[in-house]
Amino acid sequence: MTEEEISKLFKPHDLSEEFEHKFGKHRDWKTRLNTSRELGLGFAAPGGNFTKALYEAVMSGLADEIKSALEGQRVVELGAGMMSYGYALAASSDARNYLAVEPFYADVLSKSIFERIRARNELLPRIPFKVIPHDMLEHLQGEGDDLISIIACGIENCILPDEKYKRKVEAEVIRTLHPDGVFISSHSDIDPQGLQVTEKWFRRLENPTVQDRIRIYRKP
Ligand SMILES: C[S@@+](CC[C@H](N)C(=O)[O-])C[C@H]1O[C@@H](n2cnc3c(N)ncnc32)[C@H](O)[C@@H]1O
Repeated sequence: MTEEEISKLFKPHDLSEEFEHKFGKHRDWKTRLNTSRELGLGFAAPGGNFTKALYEAVMSGLADEIKSALEGQRVVELGAGMMSYGYALAASSDARNYLAVEPFYADVLSKSIFERIRARNELLPRIPFKVIPHDMLEHLQGEGDDLISIIACGIENCILPDEKYKRKVEAEVIRTLHPDGVFISSHSDIDPQGLQVTEKWFRRLENPTVQDRIRIYRKP
């Protein structure tokens, strides 16, 4: 894809005037962080490396089963951040499509996905994608039953408003999870009960002193 094709496809205004007013116009992440605090819906911690670490673990063969589990699935990433690794994971796994739910950095993330598609034009299979500037609970409540696979990386308790909110997200994960799909919770405190779960730890390739825990949940 050329730069021109990308700029035709990507219109920041697609992200609504409300998003632009609250977040898009602020280039400095600290301002976005303060606004997210005032709204009380979650914490716009820029994070960064959690989804990347999962992607690298899968690509290096440490968690191969994730690739086959995502094949053909509609993949929804909660709190997707600013970087395109969730898209890259879904595309490399031949997922049906990828939807990133990111209330505070949706503009930055959209650009980052387009940039990856442009840079890896031939190397990465292209799948349809969308980035939406919504709260994760609100988004999941609008999904149908048994339809999606879900990824959450770096969504620790300190990111979410409170325990009650987290329980509601967990209930929605169970309701919306496809019977053949997976919920992948990596370095994350979202831990729905009553599903089958496998757990593994891996060291980051870039920084082996950091370890991540991946939990893979399936419907029984
Ligand atoms: C620690 S960061 C992890 C980002 C990304 N997964 C990564 O590893 O690069 C947590 C992310 O959750 C997002 N977030 C916070 N509250 C949220 C909410 N209520 N709904 C959806 N995302 C939220 C933040 O904006 C931030 O991008």
